[in-house]
Amino acid sequence: MASSSALRSSASVVVAVVVAVVLLAAMGAEAETRKYQFDVQMTSVTRLCGTKSIVTVNGQYPGPTLLAREGDHVEVNVVNRSPYNISIHWHGVRQLLSGWADGPSYITQCPIQPGQSYVYRYQVVGQRGTLWWHAHISWLRATVYGPIVILPPAGVPYPFPAPDEEVPVMFGEWWRNDTEAVIAQALQTGGGPNVSDAYTINGLTGPLYNCSAQDTFKLKVKPGKTYMLRLINAALNDELFFSIANHTLTVVDVDALYVKPFTVDTLVIAPGQTSNVLLATKPTYPGASYSMEARPYTNTQGTFDNTTVAGILEYEDPSSSPPSQNNNSLPVFAPSLPQINDTSFVANYTAKLRSLASAEYPAAVPQDIDRRFFFTVGLGTHPCAAANGTSCQGPNGSRFAASINNVSFVLPATALLQAHFAGRSNGVYATDFPAFPLTPFNYTGTPPPNNTNVMNGTKVAVLPFGASVELVLQDTSILGAESHPLHLHGFNFFVVGQGFGNFDPANDPAKFNLVDPVERNTVGVPAGGWVAIRFRADNPGVWFMHCHLEVHMSWGLKMAWLVLDGSLPNQKLPPPPLDLPQC
Ligand code: C2O
Repeated sequence: MASSSALRSSASVVVAVVVAVVLLAAMGAEAETRKYQFDVQMTSVTRLCGTKSIVTVNGQYPGPTLLAREGDHVEVNVVNRSPYNISIHWHGVRQLLSGWADGPSYITQCPIQPGQSYVYRYQVVGQRGTLWWHAHISWLRATVYGPIVILPPAGVPYPFPAPDEEVPVMFGEWWRNDTEAVIAQALQTGGGPNVSDAYTINGLTGPLYNCSAQDTFKLKVKPGKTYMLRLINAALNDELFFSIANHTLTVVDVDALYVKPFTVDTLVIAPGQTSNVLLATKPTYPGASYSMEARPYTNTQGTFDNTTVAGILEYEDPSSSPPSQNNNSLPVFAPSLPQINDTSFVANYTAKLRSLASAEYPAAVPQDIDRRFFFTVGLGTHPCAAANGTSCQGPNGSRFAASINNVSFVLPATALLQAHFAGRSNGVYATDFPAFPLTPFNYTGTPPPNNTNVMNGTKVAVLPFGASVELVLQDTSILGAESHPLHLHGFNFFVVGQGFGNFDPANDPAKFNLVDPVERNTVGVPAGGWVAIRFRADNPGVWFMHCHLEVHMSWGLKMAWLVLDGSLPNQKLPPPPLDLPQC
């Protein structure tokens, strides 16, 4: 029972708290802690008239939306109730000084074993827009993924007219078979994995597949409004074109960074990338519905899922009362999408992306470079190791591999970041990742070199704290030129240049955009071309960089940067949390 003096003191505490909240609000710093519970569990899901048991978070597919404001702290308690080892990556979150929460298995942490849990703690700093979270081990991200919606700080407007509504639109891929079996079989035979059976929009396969119309994503809209679609490409292996019939899309943001707005009929989005786009609806009820469709962009010489996913844009009919939707007799218009291999469409689209570069949102492009790197990225082979001379199912009886500077990355048995922090790198990783190809060749020439073999290694490239880095990523034509969406953990980077053929170090740098290049966390290395990026190594830790096509990543198209501590206290990676999973 409270005495009157206790009441008085609790009242004054309330007053003090209110004053503090008002002060913090005035300072624009009322950061909250957003707490989430993620129960990783098996769930039965039916698509395309087939039911299978998939790994989900909280039984949801796609998983729950993680919502935060810029500046908020996030705490996610991940409890593994599935039979698989798991870890979760917060794709695109910078993780400043919180590398222990980044999530890639065997890079920053050992996976969370069945029955175990781990609390990911981090702050969202200097980012607003759309990112996403996904499992980061084997192919579990096929079903374990969801949006991260980052709102600007309270009271801070968007640098464009505020939309009436915001809707996450996530693209994914669906296999009838168990995806862990699909990748296990591919790695065993050395051949390409079975391609997916459908693409999905928000987990739904839509009317263009058999036995699927009941699982259609519908975006219900009113005339004369603006909708902001938070697009996320969570597909495993496919870059996608996306278009909505008879409507345009205004791109305002990519990878949680504002861009100079531009308007298109069709956009392209690579696995790992996100983009906020504004959709203005027709001023009056159109008496029609509009298909929104996504299908792949690829130059692969292998097989791929050559299907199209559709969702429906449905207008509310204001004349029916109560206002009704879903009038099945209405005409449905379909968009027209570019050819599957339309590389020049992709190049034109990516050339439109520019940082907003305003006074409030400046583009801090590194102008002077401390460390230069040139990485070739592409496919290759390993000799077939099958017993009794049986041949493997990769090119010419070999096994498929993929590499950066001819190093096909092998995950260690313990986490790199733990080994680094403990000063025990011996036997875990080497620090001699090649900054340049050891054997230069005509990277995009034809015919490609006869020897397509790559070597295995667990090597990191070391960067001093604060170094300005320029990295040129060069596609190779060794097994056919192909686009590779490269994702860097722990940093955003500026895309200062790109082109086709071999990068020319004498003439290409003069054409770099050092004023308003787009800033992002995942960039497509053009098929048969190169891209140049710059970033500042201001975040100590071990940071994964890899192709976000899961099949290329499985074959070894990945590496890690080791960024050393700086000399000041706020430039050092703190010690690991006590509940960090052990291998
Ligand atoms: Cu979206 Cu290393 O991943």
